[in-house]
Amino acid sequence: MAWRGASGYMRLMTHAQPAILSPVPAHGRYLVFGLRPGADVPGSLRRLQKVRVPEGTVIGLGEPLTLAAGAAVSGLRTFPAITGVGCSFPATQGALWISLGGIDAGELLHRGRALREVLGEGFRLDEDVSCFKYGTGRDLTGYEDGTENPKGANAMATALVQGDGPGRDGSSFVAWQRYRHDLSRLDPLSPKARDHLIGRHHATNVELAHAPASAHVKRAAQESFDPEAFMVRRSMPWGGVGEHGLAFVAYGHSLDAFERVLRRMAGLDDGIVDGLLQFTQAISGGYYWCPPLHGGRLDLRTLGL
Ligand code: HEM
Repeated sequence: MAWRGASGYMRLMTHAQPAILSPVPAHGRYLVFGLRPGADVPGSLRRLQKVRVPEGTVIGLGEPLTLAAGAAVSGLRTFPAITGVGCSFPATQGALWISLGGIDAGELLHRGRALREVLGEGFRLDEDVSCFKYGTGRDLTGYEDGTENPKGANAMATALVQGDGPGRDGSSFVAWQRYRHDLSRLDPLSPKARDHLIGRHHATNVELAHAPASAHVKRAAQESFDPEAFMVRRSMPWGGVGEHGLAFVAYGHSLDAFERVLRRMAGLDDGIVDGLLQFTQAISGGYYWCPPLHGGRLDLRTLGL
């Protein structure tokens, strides 16, 4: 994760959508839009381009949108439906993804409405997920999430495209998946059995010295991949008493690290499936490219706009 000089660093700092590298906020909201037949995609994108991206917001474009705009974004592809050993991860690729974060859930709702208005009728809201921070940043299982995220300059180098020039540098790729938990499957387990699913000690967050190979942190150990599979995770819990889970969000300068980890979680490397799948199931999945900013607005020159 090396830097390409001080000027590259400054360009990344100035051009990235800032919320990509911000800590998990108190409240979040994720919107996924599909396209209606006949949508005026260039018109909507031109309107969106005029808007200053509001603080705490990240906007990502999916391949259905870039194709409709007649453009190709290098490194962007459609989320693959992955079938593993006794498990599957669905693809529900959308055209546009918006992450809203802040301290007031009502303000997020109105920010989302305003952006939807800008997009216009051609964009259909397919997923609208209200999220919240749990304690110090825990998943609803109670385990701390995000501990092994790269920090500071490493986070920037991991999450942001650099060295590709204006219109690309400071952009990021995001993997989005919504997981639905069945916590009633965890409740009867002993604390030790739960720790073995995750690979960390619940109370102390210390990594277990002898976790089984199926433990999530063993499956996902970023340094154990060749090349290493670092990503910047910004996941948040979603839902209510009846239905709930994790809105999984991982940023990277490419989508490859995420996909290699997911394939190993699915047992495709060695037949061993991630312990998490004992109690959770992915119900959506999409890949998006988060363009850089120019003067606080989306820089869409890569799309010819
Ligand atoms: C319901 C779904 C998930 C839950 C509840 C979950 C929870 C956790 C927890 C509690 C940790 C340990 C603390 C930390 O380092 O953050 C962790 C680590 C990690 N997770 Fe997940 N995770 C989920 C899905 C995923 C997915 C889909 C991926 C990527 C494909 C992933 C990638 C990682 C990585 C890279 C680490 C750090 C591993 C390391 O280097 O030690 N997680 N996750």
